[in-house]
Amino acid sequence: MTSTWLRRMLLVLSSCAIACSAQAQTGHETLKLDAPKPNLAPTPPMGWNSWNKFACNVSEQLIREQADAMAASGLKAAGYTYLVIDDCWQKSRDADGNIQPDPERFPSGMKALADYVHGKGLKFGLYSDAGSLTCGGRPGSAGHEFQDARQYARWGVDWLKYDWCYTGTRNPEAAYTLMAKALRESGRDIVLSICEWGNSRPGRWAHPVGHLWRTTGDIWDGWKGKKAYSHGLLDIIDMNAELWAESAPNGWNDPDMLEVGNGGMTTAEYESHFSIWAMLAAPLIAGNDLRRMDADTLRILTNAEVIKVDQDPLGRQGRRVWRQGDLEVWVRTLAGGDRAAVLFNRGDKPADIAVSWAQLDLPARLKADVLDLWSSKKTKGATGRHGGTVAPHGVLMFRISPVTP
Ligand code: GLA
Repeated sequence: MTSTWLRRMLLVLSSCAIACSAQAQTGHETLKLDAPKPNLAPTPPMGWNSWNKFACNVSEQLIREQADAMAASGLKAAGYTYLVIDDCWQKSRDADGNIQPDPERFPSGMKALADYVHGKGLKFGLYSDAGSLTCGGRPGSAGHEFQDARQYARWGVDWLKYDWCYTGTRNPEAAYTLMAKALRESGRDIVLSICEWGNSRPGRWAHPVGHLWRTTGDIWDGWKGKKAYSHGLLDIIDMNAELWAESAPNGWNDPDMLEVGNGGMTTAEYESHFSIWAMLAAPLIAGNDLRRMDADTLRILTNAEVIKVDQDPLGRQGRRVWRQGDLEVWVRTLAGGDRAAVLFNRGDKPADIAVSWAQLDLPARLKADVLDLWSSKKTKGATGRHGGTVAPHGVLMFRISPVTP
């Protein structure tokens, strides 16, 4: 009797083991991405996002004005394309679970706003979250992934920033894969911007899933130091310096949006910020008020030569190759054999820094023309090394083009 009972129990347990593992596999199967990732970001995406300047203070009026300014200021001409509303545009879900924009702030609805942005020759982006709520406490997309993706497609959304608050024990790879699947089945090409702050090292799993992924917590508009979940510029740079191998065309490391023009840093610091972002092959997502840009802000954000480095078609992220105290040399290999170099002075006094041809992986005697990307000064036929005096907290940035005899 006892042995029969025991045998039965063992049978039940072993069949359960088979059934359970089959179920787990089936569960995993549903996460398989059938459609390949659309090639929407062959170079790092460029655009604007509301969060750094406006946080939850978003409205259709603000977004229309930013779209106008993006088109009229020269930013659109410089390559900025995506206009993304971050958190707090959502208010609730209707009885059928459809996500509803805040009716007071977006009275014309998202379709009308997307049409307006498209009418300016720009692309339109929204924000959601893989949890029950967004970081700002609005409804998240957990359990509504396919419904939300279909809604975004109907509205004409081109970009989804997908955040990671209130996700409990969810697995990031599974959660982002599920939304990637929903977006691919929505019938519209939508960039997936992964925002889980680098916790699970997304560069190791996100290539089939998203087009860019945050590598850190939030940036704040200051030179250095941690504030709650946010990091100053130097801290963000240091957290990104070693991730170069994980970035490639159509799947970029995202060191977070730009603070250029938001007022917390000096002009030299903003030039450093923009230059290092270009070396990191970072998405260039402006985060300032485009309606009110001073001359330096516009000059920095539209520096065509620096943007050309960021957008280099080889898509190979740059590296920090030398560091001594406060002084650094960064290099990036560009398509066609050119090199970009940034000489970075984190210190408080001017300093002489040079990049050597060895650091650029070029023969010392090779002649190269050097273009200074901030002063436009040209040097013909340099050999061995090139440098200069770098202002405190500033950079010199060069494009070095080997001379072909
Ligand atoms: C998180 C993200 C930010 C921003 C806010 C919105 O902190 O990392 O970029 O989207 O949420 O609440």
